[in-house]
Amino acid sequence: MEKLITIENIVKKDSLGQPILNGISAKVMEGEFITIIGPSGSGKSTFLSLINRMTEPDSGLLRFKGTPYVEMDVLKLRRKIGMVFQLPTMLPGTVRDNLLIGLSPVPGNPEQCRNRRPIRPDCPPKINKRTGCPFPFGGQKQRISLARSLANRPEILLLDEVTASLDPTSTEEIEELIQRLHQNGTTILWVSHNLKQAKKVGEYTWVIAGGKIVEQGHPNEVFVNPKHVITQEFIATSFGKEPVT
Ligand SMILES: Nc1ncnc2c1ncn2[C@@H]1O[C@H](COP(=O)(O)OP(=O)(O)OP(=O)(O)O)[C@@H](O)[C@H]1O
Ligand SMILES: [Mg+2]
Repeated sequence: MEKLITIENIVKKDSLGQPILNGISAKVMEGEFITIIGPSGSGKSTFLSLINRMTEPDSGLLRFKGTPYVEMDVLKLRRKIGMVFQLPTMLPGTVRDNLLIGLSPVPGNPEQCRNRRPIRPDCPPKINKRTGCPFPFGGQKQRISLARSLANRPEILLLDEVTASLDPTSTEEIEELIQRLHQNGTTILWVSHNLKQAKKVGEYTWVIAGGKIVEQGHPNEVFVNPKHVITQEFIATSFGKEPVT
């Protein structure tokens, strides 16, 4: 396995100069499936947005396959690193319009984006079949949001609470879809408040708290036998509140 993303001593401060992330170092290897958990406001979304280069660190360095982010073209980087947020982000227009957004234009013909380019074959047929539907709801919207991110064939997919607003059936469908993408080689970094989900789907779990990654390990270690006191307390207080999905 190759190093896909290297995170070196990242500090990210809020507008008042208080650190949100205070010296985070980590590595994401190609093909890994990592779930990220931690208290609300601990900086999980900020962390993902740094990896997607939606925001810049105050200090520290991020690398993609060894190359510092600052030496890479931002748009090219974002095509390699897809991101899906909690709220199904449908932009104005039809589903098809939404799926065409953000795609690499054909050289010399910016109009001809990728009309003939198929969506990844590993997307379930439902996505392709339903692209004509102008009014998708719930899990369907989230699948379209995912499909839009997948259209550039990212090497890594960042997911931020993607199933938080979905019913159990849609949640399961999205989990299966993401697991299938992972089986086909996509690296996954998935922030989830749903600890049962984080335990079930991830091969590794990272715990972010107090501006640091306080614990990293196999879900069976992190959830069943957490080493760090913050993880122990977080899991003890959170598990009782989890919806059963
Ligand atoms: N643009 C910003 N300006 C100022 N403060 C911010 C900004 N973005 C985030 N924060 C603050 O940074 C901290 C971390 O926020 P973040 O959204 O990354 O946490 P989170 O772990 O994703 O939380 P949640 O679990 O609730 O989604 C919070 O205290 C938040 O108020
Ligand atoms: Mg968040």
